[in-house]
Parts: sequence; structure tokens; C-alpha cells
Amino acid sequence: MTSRRQFIRRTSALGVGLLAFSRLSKAASPTFDGPVVLSTWNFGLQTNEAAWKILAEKGRAVDAAEAGARLAEDDLKSTSVGLAGRPDREGITTLDACIMDEFYNCGSVCFLEKIKHPISVARKVMETTPHVMLAGSGAQQFALENGFELDDYVNPESEKAWHEWLKTSEYKPIINFENHDTIGIVALDAHGNLGGACSTSGMAYKIRGRVGDSPIIGAGLYVDNEVGACTATGTGEEVIRIAGSHLVVEKMRDGMSPEDACRYAVERMIRIRPEQSKTLQVGFIAVNKSGEYGGYCIQPGFQYAVHTNEGNVLVDARSYY
Ligand code: GLY
Repeated sequence: MTSRRQFIRRTSALGVGLLAFSRLSKAASPTFDGPVVLSTWNFGLQTNEAAWKILAEKGRAVDAAEAGARLAEDDLKSTSVGLAGRPDREGITTLDACIMDEFYNCGSVCFLEKIKHPISVARKVMETTPHVMLAGSGAQQFALENGFELDDYVNPESEKAWHEWLKTSEYKPIINFENHDTIGIVALDAHGNLGGACSTSGMAYKIRGRVGDSPIIGAGLYVDNEVGACTATGTGEEVIRIAGSHLVVEKMRDGMSPEDACRYAVERMIRIRPEQSKTLQVGFIAVNKSGEYGGYCIQPGFQYAVHTNEGNVLVDARSYY
């Protein structure tokens, strides 16, 4: 159940003025009420627990977000994140991930195979290279050179589902599939700093080489430590088209609450592609510098988990339809 304080954080209309203050001070605003972490879907509850261990010890938001993503990647039953994820149409699971900290540092990997923790490879890219994004065999080579190991794990359930899919080879994303998709995490730490991470195996049975929004800074994730952080889940092509997470952060910069900013992005998607959006799901979650948070999605059924000092709860995001 959402506590009163969590409700206020979710719905506060004070955001505009206080956000302006925080922009000037570059520190937590007066309403700052301790750390908060948001993660997509119902598996976000476990993700938040991993992240909260770090936030509760006054650790950095980016560390919390990475820890949360690693937990999701570790789940060998998850069919939408990590090596257990559903494969592309050739039967090969490929992974996308990105991470961003409070200093505009960011790192990303995409089309990565046989590496258990793409989020940590993305972090290595962020911290040890002059680049933001590495792809495919280059990303894998970089991972191996940096101490990550090849992992041949194949999830029998994902493999079985792929064999079933081959019978028709019909490409049809399923909305709210198993209440899973990308794990996207945004966090505000005890020092008032923001960070975020996201990780996915992408769309099941995608064309080989397809990369979605999740490893693209500004689409699947964006963190601006002056304003707020946002991450996305769902059909990545639609998120990329509007640079979704960046758009949400910019609307928060203009003074919108996190939920209103997420709604603004969803409404833009629907306005530019009204027909396509009827059969797609996209969800955004966001947190601002004051610790207010919110989410919004196209179709009903998207949930996100929120952990504050009050506890860890699952929230049904409001939806356009
Ligand atoms: N949002 C995940 C993807 O489209 O790959």
C-alpha cells in the first residue's frame, strides 16, 4: 500500500518552484525526504531491495542502480533481461544496457552476447574509455579484456518458446508480456544525487542486429543531476523516435511533475503515431531532484516499484487508454 508520504511524493504540485530552487542550488531541494529508487515492472520490487541496500548506507545512486540491474540480470528465469532472455529470430540472445551517473558520465553496450552482466560492462565503458557506446563483438572483446567471462547459459524456457515461435515466425510483441520487459532503474541518493541504469534482452525474436531504446542514452535512460532522471520500457522503436527519457527530463526542467512529464511523452507518441500506438505498450518512470516520482504508460497493466524510507511498494501506472 502507498503511504501518505509516498502519495505526496507521487503527486506533489510543489515541484515547479522547488525544482527551480534545486536548479540554482544544485543540491537537494527543501522537500528532499531521503532516498528513493524506482524500478520498472513487478520484478522491480526485488531490484529495489538490492538498490536500497546501497541507498540506505548513503551510497551513490549510480551504484544502487547498477546493483539493481545486476540482480535482474542474475535471474536465470527472466525471459526479458540478461542471458535467460528470449532470443532473436536466429535463436541467439543479445543484450543491451546503459548507465548514467550524476556527472553526465554515461556508458552503454548493445548487441552483446554471452556476457552475464551487460550493465557492468556499460559501467566499465563509462569509467575507463573515452566513449559512450560499444556494440556487438567489439563490446564482447572489451568485456573479456576487462575481466568479464564468456557465459554460454541458455534458458531452456526461452529456447523452447523460440522453437514454438519458429512454427509461425510471426513477429508480434505481446503487451505487458509476463509483467516483465526492460529493467529500468532511477534513483535519488541520500546526498540528493541522481543515477540510473537499464538492461534488457530486447524484443523477443527481433531481426538479428536490432537494438532498442535501452542502451541509448536519452531514449531508454537519461539522468540530469540538476533536474531528474527517467527510464523507459516497452517498444523501443517508439521511445527512440521521441528521445523519450530525455524528453521527460526536459519537461521536468520546465516544471512538470514526474508523472505529468511521463504523460507528456506518452501523449506525444500517440499524437505522432495514433494507429500504431493502439497496439503497443511503452511506460516511463521518473524521479525529480526533490524526490517526487511518477510513471505513465500507453496501455493499462504497467507497474513500477518504488522504495523510499516508508517501504517498497508496487504502483499501477496511470495509462492513456
Ligand atoms: N525496451 C526494450 C526494447 O525495445 O528493446
